[in-house]
Amino acid sequence: MTRAFSGVKPTGHLTLGNYLGALRQWAETDQHRADSLFCVVDLHALTVDHDPARVRRLSRQAATLLLAAGLDPERCTVFVQSHVDEHARLAYLLECVATDGEMRRMIQYKEKSAREQVRGGSVRLSLLTYPALMAADILVYDTDEVPVGDDQTQHVELARDLAVRFNHRYGQTFTVPKATSPKVAARVMNLQDPVSKMGKSDDTGPGIVYLLDEPEAVRKKVMRAVTDSGQDVVHDRATRPGVTNLLEILAACAGGDPEDLAASYSSYGALKKDTAEAVVEVLRPVQERHRELCADPGYLEQVLRTGAEKARTMARPTVDAAYRAIGLLPA
Ligand code: TYM
Repeated sequence: MTRAFSGVKPTGHLTLGNYLGALRQWAETDQHRADSLFCVVDLHALTVDHDPARVRRLSRQAATLLLAAGLDPERCTVFVQSHVDEHARLAYLLECVATDGEMRRMIQYKEKSAREQVRGGSVRLSLLTYPALMAADILVYDTDEVPVGDDQTQHVELARDLAVRFNHRYGQTFTVPKATSPKVAARVMNLQDPVSKMGKSDDTGPGIVYLLDEPEAVRKKVMRAVTDSGQDVVHDRATRPGVTNLLEILAACAGGDPEDLAASYSSYGALKKDTAEAVVEVLRPVQERHRELCADPGYLEQVLRTGAEKARTMARPTVDAAYRAIGLLPA
């Protein structure tokens, strides 16, 4: 059976981008057709300035939202990365296989470190080595498929490269994974800046729809979305990024093809109104389930405990094999 693994980083409140690009796919498709693991990757949240109490809060909230989005612990394994030591153990071996050049080429590292340099600051070393940990997250479970939004494909490519290199140097150890992305809304853009990704760690609130936003807040954000200078509704990411983003969101939430939908609108106002309502309807059941789950914190704890136990059992043999293959003495 195909093995799928994916994760979400608790660095901010989860967004519509996380939902349409990843979580929804995991719940509607992946958990039904693959042996799947979904993880709150809390160690990754330590690669940027963080407040320990906030990371704890966001980790719990992210795990609750995974379940609220429809992940069923009877069908898939839901857990927290730091509860399974094997991720960090394998990450070190992969740092010994990766080069600093390929780490420095990662877009996310380049962008974040350039931003910090402008401010005269510096970034944590773990931000540079982050892709080795992400590769470990994936490779430790013999993963075939990694369902992610578009922004993660470069990291998954690196995981592939490291798996191939390790296998070549030290003998067949890892399955070589590949990324999978949804057909529409694989990259939801910021409503106020439609050439930038809608990212949960950014602090520009008005352009980001959060999964737990009240319906009124969602409507306001979508109705105030930046549109383009033309008047007609055209699907073209290069010349009409604002309208194209709305069409993609509408198609992902209400169904249909974004290009066909473009032909059925003659004004931005009508498009925004329908998009806002479609988003509100998509979020409604997730928010209801989130409320129910919050009323029973013991259930979440139980799910995460069982998930970590299952994950550990799967991860351990792969890491032990990698330790032996690379030349470490068995304990
Ligand atoms: P993260 O936490 O930034 O995002 C979680 C998932 O949501 C997707 N996503 C989006 N999709 C469409 N439009 C957007 N605006 C948008 N924003 C986020 C992401 O592509 C991702 O699938 N490095 C990862 C976490 C990670 C991971 C892993 C993922 C760590 N280890 C191993 C897969 C496998 C990250 O920061 O995702």
